[in-house]
Amino acid sequence: MSTATLPDELSPAAREFAAGPHRLLIGGEPVAAADGATLTTVDPSTARPIAEFAHAGPADADAAVAAARAALDGDWGALTPAARGDLIHRLAEAVEANAAELAELESLDTGKPLKLARIVDVAKTAEHLRYYAGWPTKLTGEVIPVSQPGVHVYSRREPVGVCAQIIPWNFPLLMAAWKIAPALAAGATTVLKPAEQTPLTALRLGQLALEAGIPPGVVNVLTGDGATGAALVDHPGVAKIAFTGSTAVGREIGAAAGRSLKRVTLELGGKSANVILPDADLDTAVKGSFQGIYYNTGQACNAASRLFVAADRFDEVVSRLAESAGRARVGAGLAEGTQLGPLISAEQEERVRGYIDSGRRDGAELVAGGGTPEGAGDGYFVEPTLFTAAADDIAIAREEIFGPVLVASPFESLEEVAARANAGEYGLAAGVWTRDVGNAHRLAALLQAGNVYVNTWGPSDAAAPFGGVKASGIGREHGRPGLEAYLEDKTVWIAL
Ligand code: NAI
Ligand code: MG
Repeated sequence: MSTATLPDELSPAAREFAAGPHRLLIGGEPVAAADGATLTTVDPSTARPIAEFAHAGPADADAAVAAARAALDGDWGALTPAARGDLIHRLAEAVEANAAELAELESLDTGKPLKLARIVDVAKTAEHLRYYAGWPTKLTGEVIPVSQPGVHVYSRREPVGVCAQIIPWNFPLLMAAWKIAPALAAGATTVLKPAEQTPLTALRLGQLALEAGIPPGVVNVLTGDGATGAALVDHPGVAKIAFTGSTAVGREIGAAAGRSLKRVTLELGGKSANVILPDADLDTAVKGSFQGIYYNTGQACNAASRLFVAADRFDEVVSRLAESAGRARVGAGLAEGTQLGPLISAEQEERVRGYIDSGRRDGAELVAGGGTPEGAGDGYFVEPTLFTAAADDIAIAREEIFGPVLVASPFESLEEVAARANAGEYGLAAGVWTRDVGNAHRLAALLQAGNVYVNTWGPSDAAAPFGGVKASGIGREHGRPGLEAYLEDKTVWIAL
């Protein structure tokens, strides 16, 4: 495919990689799909094709799982914990050494602002790898004090086996790191399946893993679509599935894993409630709430998409948010000064516009946005949009939109707002803005969510567990719980 359509802003290194060819990474080798199939990745800022990439099918899943198994039974499984940790550190260094190129590729493939790609996606990827690089030397089992004489009983922590790790398009490189870092630290091997919208940085990360000295077959990258993911989920050689994506697909994967008794962790959707109490510092609350929803163009699983404001502050908060939304610079990811990029695809644009129409039909009041930003061109742009809604049960107030659409409504009491915040099917995140320490702790305890943010929204750290309750998922990533998901306990009995 010609590189003529790639944006002028790209550096030579990013341009050369983006142009391809993009093959699967299996056992350390770049290979075409067995049946030669390809898909095309598109630049969401322009709606133009970037490049073709391999579309893996069941035969490729077989080959990748076999390569991952061979690495586990071979070089990788034989490494000492210190050597494993050292290789993960070297991958972090390789990410940093190639940070500028990775950020450009991420901005190109997702449309997100280049600055965001650099300071969040790439920087946090390196941090995540470094955090887990410290773990291999600390994975101790226990001596178990059983109540019978003449035996010595202990536990071993063993890698779970070959993992299938399926990730979405909103933070492609960072989600890859969230998946592979704990798997490698545990001594497991992986087949990583990036989203069909955003294959580029996962492929580059796979190359960097090889350059860092991680043995071939430890990290395999199978590009493709949902059918590729399903081939991995169903593969008998896979011991554990880790998935981030939609709740609908998460339910299917959970059901399949139940039947085959594979280990599974699921990080799914959300409709997170953000509560501004009457005594909040409004400057911080408004700024934080704006970022909470419009960050990454609303394409974040923990987006602050439902806003509840104390009734006597409601009008002021809504008008300040509307004003900020009107001022936001929406544009191409690689363009200087862009605050909000496009949505990921024509499909997501249509979905988000469908929700905006449904909000209008259901009687919500449109206070800001709702249309196409001026000069948007052919990319998938939607203005930052704000509704106020009189009812909690309309679709825009209940369903995950995954776009720059906020729904705000007033509340009277703490008990009322806690009940309304907890009413939905999701439970990923929730937030509170207040200067009253008692109310902060009361709400932190009352809100049904895996993560509660007080006077901030969405901070993240490799050491701090992240995940959801209810339909937002199963299990936690980050920290020790993130590692435990890649380990099996073996109990050993020895008669003395
Ligand atoms: P999706 O859940 O279909 O895709 C996520 C990943 O799963 C991709 O790699 C995809 O190829 C793979 N996949 C799809 N079907 C599969 C299957 N049957 N078996 C195995 N793997 C499969 O999400 P999609 O369609 O891209 O986005 C739709 C909605 O999902 C969004 O509007 C948003 O609401 C939600 N979503 C949530 C994310 C989150 O971070 N929690 C991320 C992406 C989407
Ligand atoms: Mg793309």
